[in-house]
Amino acid sequence: MYPTILSACFAVHLLLGHCRGALKIKVPEVPVIAIFGKDVTLNCSFTTDANFSLGDLSVIWQLTETRKMVHTYSLQQDQQSDIFVNRTALFTEELAKGNASLLLRHVRIEDEGSFTCFVRIEDHQSAPIKLQLAASYSKPSLHLEPNKNLKPGDEVAIACHSSGGYPPAKVQWHDGKGSNITENITTSQVANEEGLFDVRSVIRVILEPNSTYSCMVRNELLNEETQAVATITGQHLKFPAVALWLTVGLSVCLLGLLAALGFVCRRKIQQSCEENEAGDGEEEDTEARTVMKPLENADDKEAEEEVLE
Ligand SMILES: *[C@@H]1O[C@H](CO)[C@@H](O)[C@H](O)[C@H]1NC(C)=O
Ligand SMILES: *[C@@H]1O[C@H](CO)[C@@H](O)[C@H](O)[C@H]1NC(C)=O
Ligand SMILES: *[C@@H]1O[C@H](CO)[C@@H](O)[C@H](O)[C@H]1NC(C)=O
Ligand SMILES: *[C@@H]1O[C@H](CO)[C@@H](O)[C@H](O)[C@H]1NC(C)=O
Ligand SMILES: *[C@@H]1O[C@H](CO)[C@@H](O)[C@H](O)[C@H]1NC(C)=O
Repeated sequence: MYPTILSACFAVHLLLGHCRGALKIKVPEVPVIAIFGKDVTLNCSFTTDANFSLGDLSVIWQLTETRKMVHTYSLQQDQQSDIFVNRTALFTEELAKGNASLLLRHVRIEDEGSFTCFVRIEDHQSAPIKLQLAASYSKPSLHLEPNKNLKPGDEVAIACHSSGGYPPAKVQWHDGKGSNITENITTSQVANEEGLFDVRSVIRVILEPNSTYSCMVRNELLNEETQAVATITGQHLKFPAVALWLTVGLSVCLLGLLAALGFVCRRKIQQSCEENEAGDGEEEDTEARTVMKPLENADDKEAEEEVLE
């Protein structure tokens, strides 16, 4: 079978010179991944048995689907098309070596698709290359909604936001133990004017102190992931104004306590020195206790508030 074709070709070659140069063309078989905003080279190389002059060579790059021209080289003339204004180039000095690769600058999302490399030197061949765009997602930010007056048992939404990525992300939430959470999650991905995605994922949870939630945004094409972790501690649950008030309150109590202690001690020393009657001492003891009691109560109340807030 093959020998027949080969010898047929050989015969044609001898008779008409048609198989001369048997043109072969090579392009990547897997999609080429380009990073948004960067330059990319779409490799296309060709081999031919015969010598050729550049005047005999034509290279045409076009969009596979629409057949719109991207870049052409013919009769030693290099020509860009209107759709990729100033963004395409051939490596003209490489053409004689069989390199018809196309340089595409500052790639955009709309460049994604299939490009065809067409080469002609007497004979002609063409092959398509897939171009796939990619962009990294920003590190996510987390927001608690609402974020004021929170109490354990409240239902809150934790919103995770990441932007500027492509293609759409996979978002996963994990709890403190690293288990996959799949319930009560809403994820939306909206493309901006450049075609890059803004990802917003919201998880609704019942608030408990010391719980951890992490939001992981994954770009499968780039095999990249970025995540943010939120830990809700007792501290997170009481808002700053209360924390400040508590600090001030406790300091005042402590000062009061020290003053009272100082006062009592001074009186005790005076007492032992002067060796007065016992009646006075008892009076002072009750006085000290009445001073102490409300302070202890105040402390308890504040402790309760801290747990609640
Ligand atoms: C190709 O060109 C080289 C040098 O110009 C020459 O030596 C060689 O014989 C040529 N080969 C063919 C097949 O024409
Ligand atoms: C393309 O390049 C030419 C020459 O450098 C320049 O005059 C023209 O403004 C450029 N066009 C665009 C759309 O950038
Ligand atoms: C073609 O030329 C470009 C630019 O020099 C280079 O990056 C690419 O690897 C070349 N391709 C082949 C197949 O030699
Ligand atoms: C987590 O759950 C999602 C949705 O069910 C699933 O697609 C994903 O593979 C899970 N990931 C892991 C690590 O279990
Ligand atoms: C999801 O929300 C429902 C209703 O608000 C609630 O009963 C359930 O516990 C939530 N699931 C998780 C895993 O938080």
